[in-house]
This record gives sequence, structure tokens and C-alpha cells, in this order.
Amino acid sequence: MTTATAMATKPGQDEALDRDIHAYARANSRKVFVKTYGCQMNVYDSERMEDALTQGGYVRTQNMEDADLVLLNTCHIREKAAEKVYSEIGRIRKLKEARKNTGKRLTLGVTGCVAQAEGEEIFRRAPAVDLIAGPQTYHDIAAMVARAENGEKVIETEFEIEEKFAKLPAPTRQQTIARGVAGFVTVQEGCDKFCTFCVVPYTRGAEVSRPFSQIADEALRMVDAGVREITLLGQNVNAWHGSDGGKAMRLGDLLYQLAEISGLERLRYTTSHPIDMDDGLIDAHRDIGKLMPYLHLPVQAGSDRILKAMNRHHTAAEYLDIIERVRKARPDIAISGDFITGFPGESDEDFEATMDIVRRVNYASAFSFKYSARPGTPGADMEDQVPEPVKSKRLSRLQVLLGEQQQAFNQACIGKTIDILVEKKGRHEGQLIGRSPWLQSVVVEGGLSEIGHMLTVQVTSSGPVSLMAERV
Ligand code: 5AD
Ligand code: SF4
Repeated sequence: MTTATAMATKPGQDEALDRDIHAYARANSRKVFVKTYGCQMNVYDSERMEDALTQGGYVRTQNMEDADLVLLNTCHIREKAAEKVYSEIGRIRKLKEARKNTGKRLTLGVTGCVAQAEGEEIFRRAPAVDLIAGPQTYHDIAAMVARAENGEKVIETEFEIEEKFAKLPAPTRQQTIARGVAGFVTVQEGCDKFCTFCVVPYTRGAEVSRPFSQIADEALRMVDAGVREITLLGQNVNAWHGSDGGKAMRLGDLLYQLAEISGLERLRYTTSHPIDMDDGLIDAHRDIGKLMPYLHLPVQAGSDRILKAMNRHHTAAEYLDIIERVRKARPDIAISGDFITGFPGESDEDFEATMDIVRRVNYASAFSFKYSARPGTPGADMEDQVPEPVKSKRLSRLQVLLGEQQQAFNQACIGKTIDILVEKKGRHEGQLIGRSPWLQSVVVEGGLSEIGHMLTVQVTSSGPVSLMAERV
């Protein structure tokens, strides 16, 4: 048998040794498969859980059939998202039973917002689940998993969010390198806005900002490991606040500070709320070359009556004013948004106001959804719920308009000379995929050694999901 300790470490053999150690670890360790649903915050959380578990002896697998531990990191934002989780649990239950018949064990955990929102109910509805862990408990994931593997039904949904930030282990340099050149840093979690359609304030709790020093440390470590683009994440990222040597900071100040990191090429942030779009942040778009010209600023609806019922705290005119000021500060900025059709009480006229605001803003990209009544939110108890067919019809009309705008935005890029950050190899031999300043995928010819580098390219054509370009 080949073991790590039995092998010599002659110069030139390091790489082979490394490979053998990894092959040995893969063959002998327990394997974890994490499936992520929903937003980028969940993607980030899944990575942190994987980091904690792999540092505790697990290895990652991309194949659920191979796994000894499956974690479903779930999303509760719309009904469909939550239902998907239960159908996946159904499939895993069969896998678990088959495994049991061979005398082995498969441990199944549900984490994320479904875990937080439904808690104990998940055990009742899906007895195959061994572990339920809410989003603020991940710093304890390794210990919880160990208990679950011993046959205990484990449920944790009550923790202080500050503890999660402070105690979750940082990824190792190897883990960061393996994740590529564009990374995420959570700077803020939770939401105090209580939009009447949204479960986030209930599943992720109150707004909490991560301290500046923690964020700066994480960003520095990532850049040291080769990360070139950092996206700051938060459910209400522009509500972030902190302090530096006693001086109060807002998100704009944080961006100025992070832009100083040498080796970091690009900064982004998502998702923002219009009422927290302060002058400092708008100035940051004017002043910071590294801050990419892209703003995801959901408006949800265009009618003031509906915005009020949604508890959004701003009018359509106020939103348009923000967009105008942002565009003045950074004329090439691409605007993206989220929309909901069929919120309770939405009349044809209200919906036309949504179409109208979309025409006025002219979005580069957008996400749009039918209103989904979420238990426990005020919207779910409102009387004048809109029938499903009406929601669907409005959504299709809206998506046609948004699709046209996105296509026009992509078409307008043709002929432009732009910088891309090369992120990975393309589907075909000799192709690379990079990211434009406006978040589009850009396909260009090149070699693997260029991954992680900035390239100047000219856009030659635009397809449904990406741009094609030639290097200049
Ligand atoms: N129904 C439909 N869409 C919703 N969103 C949030 N809650 C709901 C809901 N109950 C959408 C909003 C939000 C995005 C993340 O999801 O547009 O900005
Ligand atoms: Fe949900 Fe509104 Fe908070 Fe966004 S701002 S997370 S939509 S409650």
C-alpha cells in the first residue's frame, strides 16, 4: 500500500507526491457533497462549510452517489425554491436506503433558509434528514455533522451571527486557489427592511455588518492566493457600515480602502437597496477605476401604490433619480434589477407602471419573478391576491421587454475594445472565458496560462449568453 509517509521527497517528485497524497486522501476519507440553491450568499456559505469540513478531514466530491455526507444548502425565497429541496430529499432518501442495505451510512443535512424557516418541521416531513442547520450556525458545522453521523438528530437554528463571522475557519491558500480568480466576500448579512413579500428578514435575521478588519484580512488573503476580482456580498450590501480607527465607514469607504490592495484588479458588490444608495457610494463609482461599472439595484415594481404596499420606502421617481445620479457619476454603468409581477393588489395600471419604469431605465440584465406568497410574510395575508394566470401573463410581457433590452445592450458592445478578466477555459480546445466589466461572459482564443490575467479584446459578436471577442 502506498502511504503518504512511506514516500520519499526527492526534488522533482513533489508534484507526484502531492498527487499521491490527494489520491490517498480521496480513497480513504469520507466524502462530502454540497448542493447549493439560491443566491450568491449561499454559494459563499457552501464554500465556507466545505472549507470547515475539508479542514476536518472530509474531501469534496462532485458526485452525490459517492458521498458519505450530503448537505443541501437551501433557499426559501419563493415556493418553488423550497419545493425543489423536498423533491431532492426524496431522491436522496432512496440513495440512503440503498446505502444502508450495503451496511454503510449516508448522512443528510439541510442547511440554509429552508432549515431556518421550517426547522423541526423538516424532520416531520422528511425523516431521512439527519441534520438541520440555519445560516448562522455554520461555524459549528463540523461538530454538528459528527453528532449526526453518530445517529443523533441534530437541529441548530439559534446563534448569534457575529459568532459565525468570527469563528468560521478561513479558507486555506490551496482552497482559495482552487476556486479561481474571481471570489466572493460576505460583508453584511440579514435584512431589516421587511419588504412585505420577502422571507429574508425572518430567515437571515437582522442586518449585521462584518467588521472592516475581518473583511480586509480576507480580501488580502484572497489576492495573495491569486484572486483578481472580489464581489462583496450582502442581502443589503449597501447598508454595510463599519469603522476604521474610530472613523465611521459606509460601503463607499470600504470600496475606496479595498481598491488600494495591489494585485486586486476588480471590485463589485451585490445586492443593494435603493434607500441605502448614498452619495459616498455614488462617488465611489465616479472615482474608483477598479469598481466595475455594474449596479444591481432592484426596484421590484414601478407603481408607487405597489411600492408602498411592498414597504419599499421609496417611490418610482426617487429610484429614477438615483439611476440618473449613478449614470452621471459613471456614464458607462450597466443597470440590473429584480422585478415581481402580481404582488397582491397589482392592477393592470400598476403593472403598466412597471413596464414604464423598465423602459425608462433600460436594463442591461434583470431577474423577474411571479409573486410567491411566503408563509409568515405580510404579503401572504393580503386580501387581493392576483390570480396565477394574470401573474404569468404579466411576467411574460415583462420578460420580453427585459430580454430585448439585454440583447440591445449586448449588441451595443460589438466593436468595443474592452478589458476582460480571464476566468477559465472555454468549452472548446484553445478557448478561454473571461468576464467583461458589465458581467457578460466573453469567449476569446488563448492558452490556459492566461487564466487570471487581464486581456484587452475587441468584441466581434454577441450570442444569447455570451460575447465573442478577438484579442487586440
Ligand atoms: N415572490 C417573488 N419574488 C420574490 N423575491 C423575493 N421574495 C419574493 C417573493 N415572495 C425576489 C425579489 C428579490 C429577489 C432576490 O427575489 O425580486 O429582489
Ligand atoms: Fe428581502 Fe426587501 Fe430585505 Fe431585499 S430588502 S432581502 S427584498 S426584505
